Amino acid sequence: MTNAPETSRLFQPARLGSLVLPNRLVMAPLTRNRAGADGVPQPVMATYYAQRASAGLIIAEATTPNAVGQTYPNIPAIHSDAQVAGWRRVTEAVRAAGGRMFLQLQHGGRVGHPDSSGLVPVAPSPVPLPETIHTPGGRKEAVVPREMSVDDIRSTVADFATAARNAVDAGFAGVEVHAANGHLLHQFMARNTNHRADGYGGSVAGRIRFAVEVVRAVAAAIGPERVGLRISPGNTVNGIEEGETGEIYRTLVDALADVGLAYLHTVFADPDDALWQDLRKRWSGTLVANPALGWGGPLPADGGRQAGERLLAAGADLIALGRAFMSNPDLVERLRTGAPLNPLRDEGWMYAGGEAGYTDYPSLTKAGMTATA
Ligand SMILES: Cc1cc2nc3c(=O)[nH]c(=O)nc-3n(C[C@H](O)[C@H](O)[C@H](O)COP(=O)(O)O)c2cc1C
Repeated sequence: MTNAPETSRLFQPARLGSLVLPNRLVMAPLTRNRAGADGVPQPVMATYYAQRASAGLIIAEATTPNAVGQTYPNIPAIHSDAQVAGWRRVTEAVRAAGGRMFLQLQHGGRVGHPDSSGLVPVAPSPVPLPETIHTPGGRKEAVVPREMSVDDIRSTVADFATAARNAVDAGFAGVEVHAANGHLLHQFMARNTNHRADGYGGSVAGRIRFAVEVVRAVAAAIGPERVGLRISPGNTVNGIEEGETGEIYRTLVDALADVGLAYLHTVFADPDDALWQDLRKRWSGTLVANPALGWGGPLPADGGRQAGERLLAAGADLIALGRAFMSNPDLVERLRTGAPLNPLRDEGWMYAGGEAGYTDYPSLTKAGMTATA
């Protein structure tokens, strides 16, 4: 049962590293393709994130740590001075609006195309994405990625660390390493995308090694209390078949237990799932849970609030919601007061466009309603 709004833990403060979050609602990372073709965040992105500054924490959308890691057109990046300057405008706007913000670092691996990045994508093994991919010229066949050498692996680990430093320089409170949803780190962990015979493949211990090295390098670069990790156990998006799902994530979580990370973030968090319960027991730090109910279908009418309450009761510390924050800049206030949510519109605006479907969702006061119940 949903708690009465005023007694819900969702609206109680929480500590995260050196941050004090005014509530336990986290805006999940959401790719919206509003950066310039050069990966520079545009001013409209500052408006969008500042509108959502009442979230306990914003995790800004997947952002590319190096040129070859770009997934799709108009994805923001953080490896050039212009990109850092663009992000600084965003973090300043969010801070001025009273918010706190991490940046998600994502290398797409085989989820990429030369028409978007100008480069042949790299991956643990030359196994192409088994589906078409969005490019500036529309959807195209995926290309066979180039297998990363050990030198490529080392330089990519270093690129993540540099990107994390750049993120702090740009004013982010920390970064989230993206090891979920079929991108490069997940490709290393999954059996069907990693056929390597060296120390980065084979057994589960080998397949998690790249993710562990990236997380440790990023933590060493900016301090572990500024670093989160996102995982999606069992998620088959982007053609992933993990193989030993339980063993992968138990081993990964144990391998990172001593680092002192800010948080672990689980997608498809389910309080009734034995693996999720086990990860909660193994992970002594902050656990961010994204229930992801109806992802791929309609958003639940309460935006995921009831699922979030159940996860908090089962031991999660923070609740991440994605689509509800897309369509409700003032989601925290709406959930706190029990006000109805704006429906999500997708008329091609989810992954493309300018202000429409992005910064034009009304808040309660703008909609002419009172902000208190
Ligand atoms: C438009 C869109 C963009 C997304 N972009 C990202 C992303 O950049 N990084 C990521 O880890 N997950 C991404 N996701 C997944 C969301 O973070 C979240 O896990 C998903 O929407 C389910 O949560 P929800 O039910 O609260 O929306 C995206 C989802 C959507 C709908």
